[in-house]
Amino acid sequence: MKAAILGYGTVGSGVYEVLQKNADVIEARSGERIDVKYVLDLREFPGDPAADVLVHDYECVVNDPEVRIVIETMGGVKPAYEFVRRALEKGKHVCTSNKELVAEYGSELLLLAKERKVNFYFEASVGGGIPIIRPLCECLTADRILEISGILNGTTNYILTRMYNEGADFNRVLKEAQGCGYAERNPAADIEGFDAGRKLAILASIVTGRRVEFGDVVTEGITGITAEDIRYARAMQAKIKLIASAVWEGESFYALVAPRMVAAGHPLYAVDDVVNAVMVRGNMLGNVLFSGRGAGKLPTASAVVSDVIQAARHADENTGLYWSGTRIVPESIRSMQSRYFVRTDAKNRQQAELLFPGLEQIDAGMEEEFAFLTGRMTEGEFAERVEELDRIYAGFRFES
Ligand code: HSE
Repeated sequence: MKAAILGYGTVGSGVYEVLQKNADVIEARSGERIDVKYVLDLREFPGDPAADVLVHDYECVVNDPEVRIVIETMGGVKPAYEFVRRALEKGKHVCTSNKELVAEYGSELLLLAKERKVNFYFEASVGGGIPIIRPLCECLTADRILEISGILNGTTNYILTRMYNEGADFNRVLKEAQGCGYAERNPAADIEGFDAGRKLAILASIVTGRRVEFGDVVTEGITGITAEDIRYARAMQAKIKLIASAVWEGESFYALVAPRMVAAGHPLYAVDDVVNAVMVRGNMLGNVLFSGRGAGKLPTASAVVSDVIQAARHADENTGLYWSGTRIVPESIRSMQSRYFVRTDAKNRQQAELLFPGLEQIDAGMEEEFAFLTGRMTEGEFAERVEELDRIYAGFRFES
């Protein structure tokens, strides 16, 4: 079976490498040999193993009837959307790692794939190398899903881990993450929580069967986190993690990406470095946790190639992965419940005790501050009460 790779960057070159190095097991599992007939990229790669199949014009890929599988690893929606749509229209399977594309155009492309009896697969778009899309669609099907909470961005988890372990400087570690091939071209996508938000929108669309728009996911980033916050986290035997969370209550659900204090003992506490983890809670099953490398060349490529194998196994049928284009909007997070950690000025102690009866004081040896943990309440209640305090230095939701 002939395949074409669109984009020979970190992931695309990883896909080429996995297909070459594991050709024998891939052939055994697909039932046939997968040959890369074309690699499409605007750049030249002299001396590279893929140089012989390198092309610069998409027309020769999309118009070649021999190409049955198009592997899109370009990232971004332009021109990836156009290329993917045309490939599906021509009856080619598409496997992609592109979360932006899936979050934005998933329902439309899935419908197109269904109509043309081919498949649009995107295992690598969420959680890098972790299998989560297929398990969610094919294994966790007997349950009502009540919650998906995860660390869905490798770059920010890498940064937060280094800050926690070594007191490392934010910008230096971000540069290292970029050097490792973890980070997005635009760093805001990672550090402002947008990348995790897109991944959460994809997972929530699968669960609800309707289109969850990335723009409806509330996102808070990690840029404001300070060494002092981390000092408090240590004092609480907790870590600060960027958690993406979708919680279903009846027909409605919440969707939020935000840094949280996560207590030791919580399943996501020990998930460090570039590792991602997705915790799924079902009403029959309870919790399951998927974890593994969430970014980087070969783990991501491995997930893409697993889709290629799946496409080869189902060359003549659509396997039913689908969500409708009808938008479902999450509830306002004001009615979502949590506990909250707050750092405020020491002079606010008495007022804080009145506003949050039963609060738990947290001592990290900073005398000029009063820090505390509240009981459980809605975001709305918390916002109203905390507004009464002047000089808030930091606040985080707390998970135990
Ligand atoms: N920038 C992304 C991350 C890449 O750090 O998780 C994988 O989607």
